[in-house]
Formats: sequence, C-alpha cells, structure tokens
Amino acid sequence: MKIGAPKGTRYILPPEINKWHYIESIIREVMNLYSFYEIRTPIFEYTELFQRGIGDTTDIVNKEMYTFLDKKGRSITLRPENTASVVRAYIEHKMYGLGGVGKFYYIGPMFRYERPQAGRQRQFHQYGMEIIGTKDPKADVEIIKATEEIYKRLGFTDYKILINSVGCPKCRPYYEEELKLYLKDKYDQLCDDCKVRYHKNPLRILDCKREGCRRATESAPKIIDYLCEECKIHFEKVLSYLDALNIKYEINHRLVRGLDYYTKTAFEVIAGGLGAQDAVGGGGRYDGLAQEIGGKEIPGVGFAGGMERLILALSHAGIEFPREDIQDLFVVFREEVEKEAFALIFRLREKGVKADYALGKKSIKAQLKEADKKGVKYVVIIGEEEVEKKILTLKNMETGEGKKITEKELYKLFEKE
Ligand code: HAM
Repeated sequence: MKIGAPKGTRYILPPEINKWHYIESIIREVMNLYSFYEIRTPIFEYTELFQRGIGDTTDIVNKEMYTFLDKKGRSITLRPENTASVVRAYIEHKMYGLGGVGKFYYIGPMFRYERPQAGRQRQFHQYGMEIIGTKDPKADVEIIKATEEIYKRLGFTDYKILINSVGCPKCRPYYEEELKLYLKDKYDQLCDDCKVRYHKNPLRILDCKREGCRRATESAPKIIDYLCEECKIHFEKVLSYLDALNIKYEINHRLVRGLDYYTKTAFEVIAGGLGAQDAVGGGGRYDGLAQEIGGKEIPGVGFAGGMERLILALSHAGIEFPREDIQDLFVVFREEVEKEAFALIFRLREKGVKADYALGKKSIKAQLKEADKKGVKYVVIIGEEEVEKKILTLKNMETGEGKKITEKELYKLFEKE
C-alpha cells in the first residue's frame, strides 16, 4: 500500500532546503542585529490558549484548528500561530522581571485546517517577531522596519505594506455600531458567513473577499474616523515614525486582520505574483492579549510572515538563491586501499575539509560518476601506488586537469580557498 503525505503538507527536500537555510540565516542575522532573542515554544498547547487568545469568533478557532483529546482527555491543539504562546511564555516565566521590554523571534511550523491551494497549506511555516511590554509606537515601527530589512537583504522589492488602526475596546464598539447601522439595509447582500459576522464580529465583514460583501461595504464608514484620542494619537505617531524612516505604506481602511487580539495598529504585507494568497505576512499590536489569557495587562506588538509564501514571492520576483556549499573534495579509491582511504577522509574532515566518498561503489568509474553528479570540484584518487609512495592524485573536475600532490599540500589547497 502506498502511503502519501497528508493533504496540505509538503516535504522540504534538498536542494530546496538550501533556500530555507538561506532565508532563515538572513532572518536570524537581522533579528540579532535588532536585539531580538529566539524563543521556541511547544508545537501543541491547551486549546483554551488559542480560544481565548485568538478569539472564538474567528475562522481560525471556529474552523481551522487541529484539536484532539490526549490520553487523559484534555483538549490539545496544534499551534495555528505563535503570538499567544509567546505571550503566555512571557507571563508564565515572568520575563517582565528580566528588565524592560522583551524582544523575541521564532521560526517554525504552524497548523491550520484550511483548503489547500497555491500558497496555502495545512502545515506551513512562519517566522515571527514580538515586542512585549511596551505601548511605545516606536515598537510598532521597529517591527515593520525589521520586516523591511529582511526583504532588503533578500533583494525583495515587489511588496506593499498596508496599514490601519482597529482601535481598542473603548472606541471599537462605537464604530461597530456605526458599521452595523450602515449595513442594516444591505444585510441581504451579505454572504452567509458575513450574516453571522454581522452579529458576532462585524469588523470582519470589511475583510470578506466575496463580491456582494465588497460592494455592500464599498462606502462604509472608516474606523480611523472613530478612534478614541489615545488610539488616534498612537496611529498618528506610528505613521510619523514610518515617514521618518522613509518606509512606504498605504492606509487601507478594510484591513482588520483575522485574529481578535489586535488593538490599534494592524498591518499586512502583500506581494506580487501570488494570486489570491498574496499576504506574505501580517501583524499588529495586541495590548489586551496578555490579560485575555490570564495575565496582567501587558501590551505587545508583532508580525509573522509565511515562509512558503515568501519563497514563492522571491521565486516569482526572479531572485536567485546562493548555492549552498557542497563538498570540497571527493575521495575515490581502489578497494585494496579502502582502509587507508577511509582514514584519510576523516583526517581531511578533522582539518575542516568537507570530504566525502561514494558508499557502496567499487569501480573507480562509478565513484567518479557520483562525484560528477554531486558537482564536486576536486577529486583525489588513491590506489596502491599512491599509498606506497605517500602521494595523491588530485583531479580538478571542472578543467579535467590532474596532478600529483602530498597530503600536506592538499590541506593547504583548501586552507587558501
Ligand atoms: P496571520 O496573518 O494569521 O498572522 O499569519 C501570518 C502569515 O502566515 C500570513 O500572512 C501568511 O503569509 C502565513 N500563513 C497563514 N496561514 C497560512 C497557510 N495556511 N498556509 C501558508 N501560509 C500561511 C498571525 O499568525 C499572527 N500571529 C501574526 C502576528 C504576530 N501578529 C502579532 N504578532
């Protein structure tokens, strides 16, 4: 019986994995430079964390979570995102006691039971960053700037930053009432999901992609006209810092995001060439999240980007990924001297030379063929004569040139490169 991979999952195989290593190294480089520390949280959590954190009127909690009972009957969920877990870790480990604000980043798999399509999977990967413990609008902008810096180092320019404010529990209810009033006589034009949202979470109607809902909300009142003084000032400051750093953005009144924990700033990055799933990342401020999941009031702001979507966007933009280092050297040997060759391979590795060899192949021809297939530049060939005279035959696979060389000279050759 053939067992296929579960729907919505993908194997990341060599050489594709090189792209991942390259992007991850740039993310780590930028995060390091900006003084963010890596945090690794569990892949599964108690379901309640996400129900309370993300919000039980959201699609993620209602439809998309991988939830199951463990052997003791506790409800467990594979993490659909990581912000709630990072905030929980911050509270649980009293990281606010470590002095000042916490800056964290992560890279890892997330799980959502969505309909798979290009750029949408059930197991996907996010890289994300969170600044926890401050209301300062500079933190919002630092997150956006870090996001841009990652793109810049990748050579990626085909993206747009959309930004909005979704207010706070003080001012948002006024806007929601206003929006409902506006939509009251357009209720019949709304899709079934949005009819439910109308009562439970009207803001999300603005985000619906269906034609009828888009038309119904076309001239809807804008949330930024209903912000309280605190939210208004915060938004103005965020925009002014973005301007100060020359970061280009577009205010988008429809941007409300799919998670309930957002307050004030919400933003998204969309990229060209991705079709319907064009959001390569999104984030915002979540000043009420810590309290929601049982802690004290601790503000925070963050962003997460989709690794698969970013790779798709980079490929679409024609960005080349540097080739990962392959072996420096392939050791090819006659069976009679295999022990000597085997020992040489490890001496080379000890000196830092990436030496490899063909396992399970006897003929010189077959070994050379494997070296060629792997794209190795140098090969050393060892036979009885070489062992006797303590000399090696070095072959440059690119030029076809061959010469005799001592082991010492061989180390030197790779020292210089
Ligand atoms: P999100 O918008 O739900 O935000 O996800 C962030 C990004 O993850 C999306 O923009 C997309 O690139 C990627 N993504 C989401 N779902 C899928 C999927 N099924 N397949 C492939 N890629 C996907 C969050 O998760 C928030 N935690 C972000 C955040 C951090 N807000 C504050 N801090």
